[in-house]
Amino acid sequence: MRLIFLGPPGAGKGTQAKLLTERYGIPQLSTGDMLRAAVAQATEVGKRAKAVMDAGQLVSDEIVNEIVSDRIDQPDCAKGFILDGYPRTVPQAVALDGMLAEKGLKLDAVIELKVDEAALVRRMENRVAETVAAGGTARSDDNPEAFRRRLEEYRVKTAPLSEHYARSGRLKTVDGMADVDTVTADIQKILA
Ligand code: AP5
Repeated sequence: MRLIFLGPPGAGKGTQAKLLTERYGIPQLSTGDMLRAAVAQATEVGKRAKAVMDAGQLVSDEIVNEIVSDRIDQPDCAKGFILDGYPRTVPQAVALDGMLAEKGLKLDAVIELKVDEAALVRRMENRVAETVAAGGTARSDDNPEAFRRRLEEYRVKTAPLSEHYARSGRLKTVDGMADVDTVTADIQKILA
């Protein structure tokens, strides 16, 4: 099973991807998590990505395309994977199509979580409050200014991907405003 989750920041891509990894026994490939790990380890990629991420902007296509291509080659992806936060631009989608064709792999579904933007700021604020209450540190891009920029980047650069995947008949949409369990059930109906 090879899936892509599309949706704006806070739509629930990571939440749903994690639930599906348990059900299908395939990994969640979150480019956001991979980039945050690179920042935490201060790798070359991490050093280049940090300021861009903190400002709520997108990291360059070249960096993320290479990260994903290498990750897909790992043995735990042999049975499939869930892409969470990638692709995020039309050039990334084109690159992904190319890398999958080169590796002889096919996508099973592209699932877009449709959400009301007004609710996303509240979800981000809840996530910050929950993380801090649990003794953790909030993401450096979970603040009003960076979040506004992330939404803007989504509208301009990522939203056109819906059309890209709809044209090839691969796009399925789910109401991401429903509660988590209902969203999961709706996704499973699509995958059944
Ligand atoms: P990334 O880490 O991918 O962040 P994002 O897309 O902004 O998404 P989030 O993690 O905020 O949201 P989500 O949709 O996963 O929602 P979640 O499940 O967490 O990217 C961060 C940065 O990395 C980017 O800005 C960019 O700089 C860089 N980057 C990453 N990928 C890149 C790429 N491909 N190209 C270039 N740059 C890239 O849920 C959010 C909250 O809502 C949680 O608290 C959750 O509990 C709650 N929630 C979830 N579902 C529901 C529900 N149904 N009802 C109520 N609450 C819910």
